[in-house]
Amino acid sequence: MKHLTTQVAIIGAGPSGLLLGQLLAKQGVDNVILERVNGEYVLSRIRAGILEQGFVDLVREAGVAERMDREGHVHEGVEFSIENERYRIDLKALTAGKTVMCYGQTEITADLMNARQAAGLPTYYEASNVQLHDVASNEPYVTFSFENEEYRLDCQYIAGCDGFHGVSRKTIPSDLKKEHERVYPFGWLGLLSDTPPVHDELIYAKHSRGFALASQRSETRSRYYLQVPLTDKVEDWSDEAFWDELKKRLPEEVAQNLVTGPSIEKSIAPLRSFVCEPMQYGRLFLVGDAAHIVPPTGAKGLNLAASDVATLYKVLTRAINDGDEACVQQYSEICLRRVWHGERFSWWMTNMMHDFGDVSTYGTDSHTFSRFMDSEFSYYLTSESGKAVIAEQYVGLPYEDPK
Ligand code: APR
Ligand code: PHB
Repeated sequence: MKHLTTQVAIIGAGPSGLLLGQLLAKQGVDNVILERVNGEYVLSRIRAGILEQGFVDLVREAGVAERMDREGHVHEGVEFSIENERYRIDLKALTAGKTVMCYGQTEITADLMNARQAAGLPTYYEASNVQLHDVASNEPYVTFSFENEEYRLDCQYIAGCDGFHGVSRKTIPSDLKKEHERVYPFGWLGLLSDTPPVHDELIYAKHSRGFALASQRSETRSRYYLQVPLTDKVEDWSDEAFWDELKKRLPEEVAQNLVTGPSIEKSIAPLRSFVCEPMQYGRLFLVGDAAHIVPPTGAKGLNLAASDVATLYKVLTRAINDGDEACVQQYSEICLRRVWHGERFSWWMTNMMHDFGDVSTYGTDSHTFSRFMDSEFSYYLTSESGKAVIAEQYVGLPYEDPK
């Protein structure tokens, strides 16, 4: 058994683990990351692309913003459509100057990986059988296998940044946590292509055939999504079928400008809402997808992970560098306040924009539910205060500083 020691053991090298590691290192806090798969695999996962102002500021604070600031696109507005009607929300005007940044999660992850490697900070990729021990004591440790050797990593704190399927959340005894979950009766089929985006801002399209989203990664790379039944398989969808369906769901004048091409990636993701309460147990803290999942309609998944990281790095720095150990007790409460806002916004956007078919929800029959959502959505998109409510949440609610 090889012995290692660090101040913070980080489980998972997704965006949460890497950003946390970078911010802690900048404060002089030692950390080691353990990741189950290899770096290329982490980078092969195509995920979201809209960063809130708070996330952008945090990446700058971590000193990893150079490429994002050069290649990312600031979006001052976002569009919604209902059949052929278009509605623009002027994010900047409605939020006293806030905007969002369009820059892929994959790119941020690559930038963070490169920065970590350049700084010589330790990451064990392809670490298997990661197990957390004595997390409720003052001497927690993690064991794992790496290159056919067994390791023990002693630490002061553990950050569980290992996503929805990770081991960290499972380490919290079931009588000390509550998990809240909802799985939606449809999925999103995503397609990535090297074609110019159909519009310079994102378009979220509500349509009688189902929801669609026109997003982008750069001036030459587009990301599109279609609401599909959970029973559909990616193999059922040729590129042609995807483009045909997308054209039908986007407003006609937009669809006319659609440039199609071969897909680089195509996948179906189910939509899920999930929260684990609390987000901490002893010296273990859950971060990002390990603690919560939102449906992608509000672009909040990655952004909620970032606000967890912002809180955790501040409380851990104070505990480790200033000896203020009590400070860490606030972590879960602070995070959950913002997480529930994000969950509620994502649920609301999902409800308003998707076709729920004959699924009946919230004590209404399915017809009434669908009419209520039509009415609510068109009300918000035609009222100045309604648009401001969407804008304020889309750009992201403020981060709360620990006391
Ligand atoms: N041991 C070590 N690493 C693990 C283990 C394990 N047992 N289980 C999972 N991991 C790794 C995964 O391989 C993955 O690289 O943890 C990482 C978790 O990364 P993500 O799933 O990307 O989660 P996170 O970093 O919290 O990212 C925020 O929010 O909505 C989403 O799209 C958004 O993926 C993004 C996420
Ligand atoms: C994306 O570009 O992948 C994306 C953008 C906005 C969302 C969801 C996904 O709400």
